[in-house]
Amino acid sequence: MKRELINECRLRFPALSRNEAFSRSAAAGFAAQQDPTVDEIAAIKTAVSEAVTNAIVHGYRDSRGDVELLLRLFSDGAVQIQVKDKGRGIPDIKAAMQPMFTTAPEDEERSGYGFTVMESFMDKVRVKSAVGRGTVVTLEKKLRGKAAQKGT
Ligand SMILES: Nc1ncnc2c1ncn2[C@@H]1O[C@H](COP(=O)(O)OP(=O)(O)O)[C@@H](O)[C@H]1O
Ligand SMILES: [Mg+2]
Repeated sequence: MKRELINECRLRFPALSRNEAFSRSAAAGFAAQQDPTVDEIAAIKTAVSEAVTNAIVHGYRDSRGDVELLLRLFSDGAVQIQVKDKGRGIPDIKAAMQPMFTTAPEDEERSGYGFTVMESFMDKVRVKSAVGRGTVVTLEKKLRGKAAQKGT
C-alpha cells in the first residue's frame, strides 16, 4: 500500500540558539496529532534538537541565515522532519556521521555524537549536503502511538 502524505507544516527561523527549544517543541507539537507515547515525543525532540543545533553552530558557523523545518505526517503513521540550512555544507558526510567526529573539538558541548544520537532515536537519518550551499537532514520515525502501547 502506497503511503500518502496526510499533513505538512513548514517553519523558517533565523539560525539563533534561542530557536533550538522552540523548534523541538514545534516538532513535538506537530507529532502530537498522532497520539505518540512519551518516549516517541522525547525521541523526536532529541533528534530535532541535534539537527537544528548542527545547522546553527556548524552550518552557519561563519555566516547568518535561516533554518527551515519541514514537518510531514504520512498515512502509515510516520513522521518525517527535514532540517535545512544554506550554510557551509559538509565535505565528507560519511566521516561526519561517525561517532566522535567533530570539527568543533574546542567546544565542550560538541562531542561528535549528534548524528549517532539522531540515528539511535529515529528509524531513518539521511543527510544531503553540498559544500558552500548547505545541508538537509531528513529524520523519520514511525509512531506506533499510545494505542499500540496498550495493545489495542
Ligand atoms: N548542518 C551542518 N552544516 C555543516 N556541518 C555540519 C552540519 N551538521 C553536522 N556537521 C558536521 O558534522 C560534524 C558531526 O556532527 P555531530 O555528530 O552532531 O557532532 P558535533 O555537533 O558534536 O560536532 C560536525 O562537527 C560538523 O563538522
Ligand atoms: Mg552536533
